[in-house]
Amino acid sequence: MIPNEITIDLGALRHNLSEIKRLAGSQSKILAVVKSDAYGHGMIPVAKTLESAGVDCLGVFELKEGLDLRKSGCEVPILVLMGVVLDEVEAAVEYRLMPALFQLEIGEELSRISAAQGKVTPVHVKVDTGMTRLGVLYENLPEFLEQLLPLEGIEVTGIFSHLAVADQPNQAYTDQQIERFLEAVAACRRITGSCGDAHVANSGALLGSEGLELGMVRPGILLYGSPPAEGWAAAATFKPVMSFKSAVVQVRTVPAGTSVSYGCTYTTQESRTIATIPVGYDDGYNRLLSNNGEMLIHGKRVPIAGRVCMNLTMVDVTGIADVAVGDDVVLLGTQGSEQITAEEIATRIRTISYEVYCSLGKSNRRTYINA
Ligand SMILES: Cc1ncc(COP(=O)(O)O)c(C=O)c1O
Repeated sequence: MIPNEITIDLGALRHNLSEIKRLAGSQSKILAVVKSDAYGHGMIPVAKTLESAGVDCLGVFELKEGLDLRKSGCEVPILVLMGVVLDEVEAAVEYRLMPALFQLEIGEELSRISAAQGKVTPVHVKVDTGMTRLGVLYENLPEFLEQLLPLEGIEVTGIFSHLAVADQPNQAYTDQQIERFLEAVAACRRITGSCGDAHVANSGALLGSEGLELGMVRPGILLYGSPPAEGWAAAATFKPVMSFKSAVVQVRTVPAGTSVSYGCTYTTQESRTIATIPVGYDDGYNRLLSNNGEMLIHGKRVPIAGRVCMNLTMVDVTGIADVAVGDDVVLLGTQGSEQITAEEIATRIRTISYEVYCSLGKSNRRTYINA
């Protein structure tokens, strides 16, 4: 069997949740974002761990994820962040999901189906305060709520918005979005009497203490142990949840003038020892790490030699004693005193840790520890 394995440390996940609670304040509710297979960490085990650790609500992207959570026994409220489309309304009502709502037509269908079954479906109104992605434009919110108000069978149990630049500290744009959101919340209270849970704080806002006064926060990446961007000292207490390891499948010492991998982009200047690792871009290990990334072997950093292939990557292990077939290789995580973080990989390939977690986590066998 291919020795590649993602390890998900559920103890680290619980630790990160308690750090989030500390930052948000003991009164604050937590809506944990577990969309996209919990950023590659595995939605169901992550959600179950968070639920048993006392999370108040879970956030998924689409209906199917919400159904999967309910069918696996999750009982907490589940917010479907992208809302639902017309032919999903029936299932959303049946499975007690809480759609984001920003289209009257969907509100009317939710109302019709819920009322016919004598049910009340909770919804969170999504307000666009400057992300220009999903939501009712903040200026149009009062009119939208007036139209929603007469509909029976639905209840506005929350209102939320998403911040565009909260991963960077002290941004005037974040202040402006929060100001617009506070006005939206006030309008919602005025028109509907109460708007339930209001939330805008993603991980960046949490670290920057913005939008916490609203009483609910909505973090994703901090749960998984990474800051949303570099430069957040407060993120130091969070622990990475995912690690990724493989093993050496071949080692050989080659003479000067030997080219390694496709394209002959790495040619030895002297005798070097090359180890082959059975991980490639098909395993979510980005090809931009060619001649660029590092792995850990025997607790030491070793550079990638040549191009990352579909299923294999070579590293230069010259000078590391006794590297042998079967030796552990860490591609993400800690070995001895060395550590490779998702942030490091992301910086090398000019992306964000979110994408590193999603690609590695979804492409490899996962094992869960500290359940
Ligand atoms: C609507 C919404 N809320 C919250 C989050 C969580 O953001 P973060 O992972 O930066 O905390 C996301 C993530 O993309 C999102 O799309």
